[in-house]
Amino acid sequence: MIVVGIETSCDETAIGILEFKQKRIKILANLIHSQVKIHQKYGGVYPFLAKREHKRNLPILFEKSLKILKHKKIDLIAVTKGPGLEPCLWEGINFAKEISKKLKIPVLGVNHLEAHILINFLGKRKIKNLLPALCLVISGGHTVLFLMEKIGKYSLLGQTRDDAVGECYDKIGRLFSFSYPAGPKIGEFLKNYKPKSKFEVKFPRPMINQKNYDFSFSGLKTAIFYDYKKQPDEIKKSKDYAYFVLKEMKNAVSDVLISKTFRAKKEFLVKSILVGGGVAADDFLQKRFEKEAKRQKIKIFFPEKKYCTDNGVMVSLNGYFNFVLKKKFEKEIFANPDLTI
Ligand code: KG4
Ligand code: ZN
Repeated sequence: MIVVGIETSCDETAIGILEFKQKRIKILANLIHSQVKIHQKYGGVYPFLAKREHKRNLPILFEKSLKILKHKKIDLIAVTKGPGLEPCLWEGINFAKEISKKLKIPVLGVNHLEAHILINFLGKRKIKNLLPALCLVISGGHTVLFLMEKIGKYSLLGQTRDDAVGECYDKIGRLFSFSYPAGPKIGEFLKNYKPKSKFEVKFPRPMINQKNYDFSFSGLKTAIFYDYKKQPDEIKKSKDYAYFVLKEMKNAVSDVLISKTFRAKKEFLVKSILVGGGVAADDFLQKRFEKEAKRQKIKIFFPEKKYCTDNGVMVSLNGYFNFVLKKKFEKEIFANPDLTI
């Protein structure tokens, strides 16, 4: 069975193709056209430019997909239906419907949050042994914690009340001249830069002591902005200052995410923790989570880096699961920018 997955919820136009053959999964394509360069001057994603780029790039990527497939038949099309930027979601959905009609192939919609988590199952055999699982999506648009009883059966535990983690990284990164998306660049900077002087900075861990599973990162962002604003110009430009601020920012974010995730682990007696989304590619965060998981004797999984950020392979895999689990095919797929879990 061959499944084509289409992703256009934000600024990546992506098509992933998986082949399912007797319990083996072969990755036939992971095509991504990134729009990063276009959005960089706006410091974030500009939805209508993103929509225009999706419209332009989808046919090009699909042509490439057909070349890769040669004459192999596509059995199913899966497309992201939400959450995400509404105009962008519609581009993907309309394109998927068009090829579904033209090639007479069924099409189904996929939840972007679910796809960011299920990609952890790529290449895993005994999925049942990992369930129930605690799932944490950390990306540029989302910070969501939910419980997976089995594939398709979820309950939402909490989510961010304002900024997502990736959004916080990107905005604070901009303060220190890291272009959008700043997340990976901050990571490289912290890994390679050796500071010569020390700065004492301490920022809040928002909502860490609240007995719910919600998050908030805008207060952290504001605290960093204020600290920056009161510094003289030479310190604002100092790499040493940037180093200690960014390190403390990552520690604050990790402390909150780890504290809430592992409290949920105790409350719900899960067998594993699955993390996904662009920020799951952060080595600093991965190491801190892995250390805690080892201490608390629980399995934890992160997708391969290239499958943390938005991609079509995760949509394809999620589409396959929906299909084999006989999740109902919707009569009509609608974009739902606020779709939750
Ligand atoms: O999942 P994603 O591609 O898009 C959304 O669904 O939002 O996530 C993008 C976010 C951006 O904020 C970006 O800065 C962050 O993920 N990101 C990273 C890394 N790679 C991407 N943050 C930290 N370390 C990385 N290696
Ligand atoms: Zn995403």
